[in-house]
Amino acid sequence: MTGLDDIVVRQVERGDLLDVLRIERASFTQPWPYAAFESFVDEPAFLVAARGTDILGYVVADVMPNHGNDIGHIKDLAVHPDARGEGLGRRLLQQALSAVALAEATIVKLEVRVSNEPALSLYRDMGFESAHRIPRYYADGEDAFIMIHDVRTWIR
Ligand SMILES: CC(C)(COP(=O)(O)OP(=O)(O)OC[C@H]1O[C@@H](n2cnc3c(N)ncnc32)[C@H](O)[C@@H]1OP(=O)(O)O)[C@@H](O)C(=O)NCCC(=O)NCCS
Repeated sequence: MTGLDDIVVRQVERGDLLDVLRIERASFTQPWPYAAFESFVDEPAFLVAARGTDILGYVVADVMPNHGNDIGHIKDLAVHPDARGEGLGRRLLQQALSAVALAEATIVKLEVRVSNEPALSLYRDMGFESAHRIPRYYADGEDAFIMIHDVRTWIR
């Protein structure tokens, strides 16, 4: 078995959250606390990538009602540092987009640091476009791009 053949992407379970938190802390200078992940545990687009019992990455997304044009939001995405570059981030994002499209989102948005080249490259490649730049969006003063993707044709 090679590559991603033995990877399962599935809905998160409460028992995965400590592994998720470890990856979060290894990935971000301002990591989410445990309670933030706990609050999304029932979201259909909180997914983990697992190889056997090892959690290698996760994505957290939700859908907010918006008068028939519901908005999906990719809130968090990370892959364990040792598992990057194998296609896991792309697969997690693809499955999260399918999940929010199934939940009737018409567009999906996300925020990303303007210096985060790996993430920007992934998002552009998946069809996201930069809509705005928000000055000093992050606590350390860095700007964010708000990126948008129309998912109306994603599953229909
Ligand atoms: C962003 C992240 C989730 C990508 O996950 P990944 O599993 O390494 O990505 P993949 O292997 O699926 O790569 C998919 C695409 O991402 C881009 N990419 C990934 N790593 C990259 C790098 N080091 N430099 C530039 N582009 C990169 C490429 O476009 C790549 O497509 P390609 O393989 O056809 O070139 C991962 O780097 C990560 O966890 N980063 C830290 C957390 C983070 O920044 N999350 C995003 C917050 S907005």
